[in-house]
Amino acid sequence: MNIIRILTKSTMKPTCRIFLSHRNSLFFNTNYQSNIDPLRVLGSLRGIHNTHKAFRLPGSGFGQSKAITRPNDGFGSLPSRVVLALSRVASYSTTVETRVNDKSFERIYVQGGAGVNLKPLVVERIDNDENVIGEEESRIEVNGDGVGGGQANVGNSEGLSESKVAREESEAEKVAWTLLREAVVMYCGSPVGTVAANDPGDKQPLNYDQVFLRDFVPSALTFLLKGEGEIVRNFLLHTLQLQSWEKTVDCYSPGQGLMPASFKVRTVALDENKNEEVLDPDFGESAIGRVAPVDSGLWWIILLRAYGKLTGDYALQERVDVQTGLKMILNLCLTDGFDMFPSLLVTDGSCMIDRRMGIHGHPLEIQALFYSALRCSREMLAVNEGSNNLVRAINNRLSALSFHIREYYWVDMKKINEIYRYKTEEYSMDAINKFNIYPEQIPSWLMDWIPEKGGYMMGNLQPAHMDFRFFTLGNLWSIVSSLGTPKQNTAILNLIEAKWDDIVGHMPLKIGYPAVENEEWRIITGSDPKNTPWSYHNGGSWPTLLWQFTLACIKMGRLELAQKAVALAEKRLPLDRWPEYYDTRTGKFIGKQARLYQTWTIAGFLASKMLLENPEMASLLFWEEDYELLEICVCALSKSGRKKCSRFAAKSQILV
Ligand code: GLC
Repeated sequence: MNIIRILTKSTMKPTCRIFLSHRNSLFFNTNYQSNIDPLRVLGSLRGIHNTHKAFRLPGSGFGQSKAITRPNDGFGSLPSRVVLALSRVASYSTTVETRVNDKSFERIYVQGGAGVNLKPLVVERIDNDENVIGEEESRIEVNGDGVGGGQANVGNSEGLSESKVAREESEAEKVAWTLLREAVVMYCGSPVGTVAANDPGDKQPLNYDQVFLRDFVPSALTFLLKGEGEIVRNFLLHTLQLQSWEKTVDCYSPGQGLMPASFKVRTVALDENKNEEVLDPDFGESAIGRVAPVDSGLWWIILLRAYGKLTGDYALQERVDVQTGLKMILNLCLTDGFDMFPSLLVTDGSCMIDRRMGIHGHPLEIQALFYSALRCSREMLAVNEGSNNLVRAINNRLSALSFHIREYYWVDMKKINEIYRYKTEEYSMDAINKFNIYPEQIPSWLMDWIPEKGGYMMGNLQPAHMDFRFFTLGNLWSIVSSLGTPKQNTAILNLIEAKWDDIVGHMPLKIGYPAVENEEWRIITGSDPKNTPWSYHNGGSWPTLLWQFTLACIKMGRLELAQKAVALAEKRLPLDRWPEYYDTRTGKFIGKQARLYQTWTIAGFLASKMLLENPEMASLLFWEEDYELLEICVCALSKSGRKKCSRFAAKSQILV
């Protein structure tokens, strides 16, 4: 169990310092731990950690003990000065090169030492290559400058008008607010998140009693729109502390910037009258299927920006530890691999759809969240010499990614007809059918389904493979982030309107359309009994998608569509006890295994109502087209060169 712990006396209000426990026997053998000078530890670590990740020794994961899950694992006797020095180690390479299409940027590595795992030891606040600005104790103080420093400055936001006349809440809203408040999770006397579900009848809550990062986003927005920033601030800072925590799946360590899928607050009894609360994150190592929570870090970035925008408290995103965390996520996403495309390559189940559903590769949902997170980061990263290359890498990626998605993921009548007539096996730079798509791949449902007006972004694109399924979250975020062109964004909502019965039906909104059935279900899901056709991730309807639909509608000036969907939800959700999802083609029945009192259903509904009421606040949460980005092309190939720039050659959607 990986934990962040605090020591408290059961009778006293906790002092609320947070520190990371560490189980490296080399440093924390009880016999000599009290002699450790934290500054010496810092000093020696600096040397150890200034190595490039590429030179990390293969054995660097060894030496760590996973056995110390007991409350009294030696930390009780650690002097507090040592305890407070426990945190993350940050260092980074010194590579600064400038070349066309430069992908080198400041990398921040938090890594194990040579032969021993020294990961979560010390935070060094680093600004640029040579300057360690200061050493930070890994500590968040309640009622100080840290987490619980009272209400965030809500009211200073760009668009928040305090004078808005309050409308009488509907019964459904009142109930939803009570339930949302009951879902709040406290840690060390402060609110830090909301549980995924609070279903009293649930005998097997599995991990639904945890705070999921993605699930907390609608809760966070609801609180922010209400003027309550503290819980969001706490959440952002606590999850940041979890980011670089030691995490292993069968002795293999996933990347350091990874954010957990979820965390739980556990209370552990120490001796006599002492209790300790611990934060116990899950990076996928306990999750069903051991899926990587790729979207967690992206959501964290999106929420960090939203927090600043809606509260006016920009100081949080400017903090050095927050900037470091942000860069770590970006490094993980922007790191070079074998990819041929600017889209992010991920395994199946790495997002809201966290079970096998055939979405490995380059699923739209991840690309849209990635694009949104990059746009957020571009606004939030402190620009200095140390971050120049990272900013450049972000701009280049944004530009390449939007071109790629707009050009190759777009589906409408015209595009299907083009694919239908594709020639295959084209070997050349000028190939029209670049991914060698065999026209037989166009599914028969699509030929009938595609409306004359409207279109959408397909679910996934790989060599010789187009996944034509419509995935709602990815399409909505293409609109919200302006990943799609203005025309495409309008067309996506037109398609939803034209296909209302399929995508909204009795309950907004379908997670994906259509379901995979029969042999396809057997092959694609691995015969998953939870993802049977028209259930759960396989064509189920998820009310939590409502707030994202509302945001997209507000952006595109289609308020009436959102209002219609919200009205449907308002009628059914309280009666049905706020289920996690609905089943059947039209979302008629409460999902087979749906939890009741699912928090992101409740919060998604409340957020939708509040966004509709405050469209000026909603406008702080989406992006318009960025024309500067469209002009960036770093391949340095002109029309007169030996090779043509493929972007110029494409009959591009990019500017329409
Ligand atoms: C399920 C969903 C996932 C959600 C979690 C908690 O695993 O697939 O998206 O985060 O439940 O609600």
